[in-house]
Amino acid sequence: MDNAITDQDSRQTTECEVRISTGVAPEDVESLLDMAAACGMFNNDELSTAEGMVWDCAYQGDSDACRFIQARTNETDGDTLAGFLCYGAIAQWPDSFELIGISVTPRLQRQGIGSAMLAEMERQAAARGAKRILVETEGGRTFEAARTFYEANGYDREDRFLRQFIPKEGGVVYRKDFESDAQERQPQ
Ligand SMILES: CC(C)(COP(=O)(O)OP(=O)(O)OC[C@H]1O[C@@H](n2cnc3c(N)ncnc32)[C@H](O)[C@@H]1OP(=O)(O)O)[C@@H](O)C(=O)NCCC(=O)NCCS
Repeated sequence: MDNAITDQDSRQTTECEVRISTGVAPEDVESLLDMAAACGMFNNDELSTAEGMVWDCAYQGDSDACRFIQARTNETDGDTLAGFLCYGAIAQWPDSFELIGISVTPRLQRQGIGSAMLAEMERQAAARGAKRILVETEGGRTFEAARTFYEANGYDREDRFLRQFIPKEGGVVYRKDFESDAQERQPQ
């Protein structure tokens, strides 16, 4: 168990310097939940699940099933949350991880922050033996930007039935296989 926040990367966007770190401190919880609610892309059930996960991570530390990556800026009003991502290992599917949720503050979107957090998640997942990452999003225009974002980051739409990862009705699954696994993909 590890609930220390560790810095992985920092980068300059067109507006500010962004620091990528892993973990959640109790004082981060409110801003993470506010951002998840404000982005309007998560329903009440998802927000309530997110609330449980973020409190668990803040007080009990990251687990295999749930780990947060944050992007933070140091602007004039001090250290602020620019985005977050939550991911974890998929139960009973060895080598497979799920991107559970991602959000970037609207003012700082399209500056590479979401992609930087995805890259950090992929690095960590690969280091933990992941061969693939899956993410469920939705069809429809509201989620068009999210789908374009995943495609721009090398995620392929998965149209086959995956018994370990069944989307809800209207759900769309994207998948990224790490190179070492590309030759090994078997029909599910
Ligand atoms: C999806 C999201 C996390 C992307 O974060 P971001 O930091 O803006 O993404 P990046 O700047 O790394 O974008 C990388 C590429 O993704 C694509 N992309 C990202 N946002 C896009 C948008 N709104 N429209 C079209 N393409 C988009 C582009 O190809 C972009 O590259 P470019 O800017 O050079 O053209 C962010 O838009 C967000 O928080 N949305 C609301 C929450 C959400 O939809 N979460 C996912 C739910 S499944």
